[in-house]
This record gives sequence, structure tokens and C-alpha cells, in this order.
Amino acid sequence: MRVKRIVCVGLSVLLLAVVGALAADYIGSAKCKMCHKVEYASWAELPHAKAFDRLEGDDKANEECLKCHATGGKAEFPGVGCESCHGPGSDYKSMKVMKDHEAAVAAGLILPDEGTCKGCHENAPHEVPAFDYATAKEKGVHEQKAE
Ligand code: HEC
Ligand code: HEC
Ligand code: HEC
Ligand code: HEC
Repeated sequence: MRVKRIVCVGLSVLLLAVVGALAADYIGSAKCKMCHKVEYASWAELPHAKAFDRLEGDDKANEECLKCHATGGKAEFPGVGCESCHGPGSDYKSMKVMKDHEAAVAAGLILPDEGTCKGCHENAPHEVPAFDYATAKEKGVHEQKAE
């Protein structure tokens, strides 16, 4: 019995370690800036970049608010950053992976669609204006590099 339990605990620890290693980490918008200056500069002027500043007092540390007002729910990455829409970047940020669309997506890169936005815009614990994707995309998404 004893031995079995020890093996069991050992396996769970191993499993946790594996899952931990598989999950990509948030690295913050500043890390995307060096390669995506156009997107970064226009994003920085939009309400998303300032979403954390809207929180007052204790709410700046309230997980329930950080979920949508900080990147990946982390106060160290305030606002709706690049990775709030494009997914955590630790595994796709290298030039080699970024240049290869398939590899980037496999490493967690998300090309956001309406559902990505609605995850936040239709699930707030407070009142929000009705969300219309076409209008919101026009107003709320950064500039994109011309092809
Ligand atoms: C070392 C440079 C570098 C870094 C750092 C980097 N990228 Fe990229 N990224 C590229 C290159 C190069 C491409 C492909 C060509 C292009 O679209 O400019 C690309 C493409 C993309 C695309 C379009 C992908 C596609 O297949 O359509 C997105 C979205 C993107 N990056 C987001 C990000 C985000 C978000 C971050 C930060 C977490 C980031 N990148 C960090 C270099 C980088
Ligand atoms: C599921 C996502 C989500 C969560 C969780 C969330 N918010 Fe928001 N919040 C939003 C969105 C989306 C907007 C912007 C709505 C708009 O202007 O279209 C917003 C806007 C706001 C604003 C600006 C409101 C205004 O009328 O200008 C404040 C303040 C705010 N949220 C506070 C909070 C607080 C405090 C919490 C935690 C109790 C919280 N939010 C949790 C999504 C969320
Ligand atoms: C991680 C949560 C989250 C995601 C994902 C998200 N948003 Fe937001 N959005 C917010 C929050 C929070 C605000 C409020 C910022 C503020 O007012 O300071 C906001 C504000 C906005 C605003 C400004 C609203 C206004 O009244 O001017 C627009 C437009 C917008 N979002 C469009 C989008 C679009 C389009 C997408 C998807 C491509 C998207 N958002 C994805 C959380 C999110
Ligand atoms: C509110 C969600 C949202 C945020 C935040 C966001 N993006 Fe995007 N991004 C989009 C959408 C939507 C597209 C267009 C996808 C499409 O056209 O299908 C896009 C496209 C891109 C592309 C490909 C087109 C191009 O410009 O070459 C890159 C690169 C990119 N984003 C980088 C970034 C970076 C860097 C940041 C942070 C500074 C960022 N994004 C923040 C929603 C977002």
C-alpha cells in the first residue's frame, strides 16, 4: 500500500512538472515591440493598453478584474496586451518560429477572431456596451503592417 501511494505521488509530481513545461508563458508586450513596432505604437494609443489603469484601489489586485484588465491575468503585464489576443508568447517569440506560420500556431500563436474578443466583451461582471465586431475591430485593433 505504502509503496503504491509513494509511486502515485511521484507520478503526480512528474505530471505536474510536464504540464508546467508544456504551458507557454506570458512575456509581456514590450518583448513583441522590438519586431513589431507599427503594431506596438498604434496599440499603445488604444484603450486596451490602458485597461489596467481603469481599475481602482483593491481592484488592481483583484483576480476577478485582472482576468480581462491585465494580460494573462497578471498585474505585472497591465492592460489588454498583445498576448491577450495572440496567446502567450514564450514558445513562438523567436525569429525562427515567427517566420514559420505553422510552427508559430503550433507554439501557441493565435490569430484572433470574433470569439477572442467576445471572451472578454460579453463576459464582464459589469455592464458593457453591446459588442459589434465590425465596428469594434475598426476602433480597437492596432494598425497592421502593409503587405
Ligand atoms: C524576434 C522578432 C519577433 C518577436 C520578438 C515577435 N515576433 Fe511576431 N513575427 C515576427 C516575424 C518576422 C513575423 C513574420 C513576418 C511578419 O508578419 O512581420 C511575425 C509574425 C507575427 C504575426 C503574424 C503571424 C501569421 O502567421 O500571420 C503575429 C500575430 C505576431 N507575429 C505576433 C507577435 C507577438 C504577439 C509577439 C510577442 C509575444 C511577437 N510576435 C514577437 C517576428 C517577431
Ligand atoms: C470578462 C472580462 C471582464 C472582467 C472580468 C472585468 N471587466 Fe471591466 N471591462 C471589460 C470590458 C470588455 C470593458 C470595456 C467595455 C467597452 O467600453 O466596450 C471593461 C471596462 C471597464 C471599466 C471602464 C468602464 C466604463 O464604463 O468606461 C471599468 C472601470 C472596469 N471595466 C472595471 C472592472 C472591475 C472593477 C472588474 C472586476 C470586478 C472588471 N472590470 C472585470 C471586461 C471585463
Ligand atoms: C482580455 C480581454 C479583452 C479582449 C480579448 C478584447 N478586449 Fe477589447 N477591451 C477590453 C477592456 C478591459 C477594455 C476597456 C479598456 C478601457 O476602457 O480602458 C476594452 C476596450 C475595447 C474597445 C474600446 C471601447 C470604447 O468604448 O472605446 C474596443 C473598440 C475593443 N475593446 C475592441 C476589441 C476587439 C475588436 C477585440 C478582439 C479583436 C477585443 N476588444 C478583445 C478587454 C478585451
Ligand atoms: C484586441 C486584440 C489584439 C491585441 C491586443 C493585439 N492584436 Fe495583433 N491582431 C489582432 C487582430 C484581430 C489581427 C488581424 C487578424 C486578421 O486579420 O485575421 C491582428 C494581427 C496582428 C499581426 C499580423 C498582421 C501584421 O500587422 O503584420 C501582427 C504582427 C500583430 N497582430 C501583432 C500584435 C502585437 C505586437 C500586439 C501588441 C503590441 C498586438 N498584435 C495586439 C488583434 C490584436
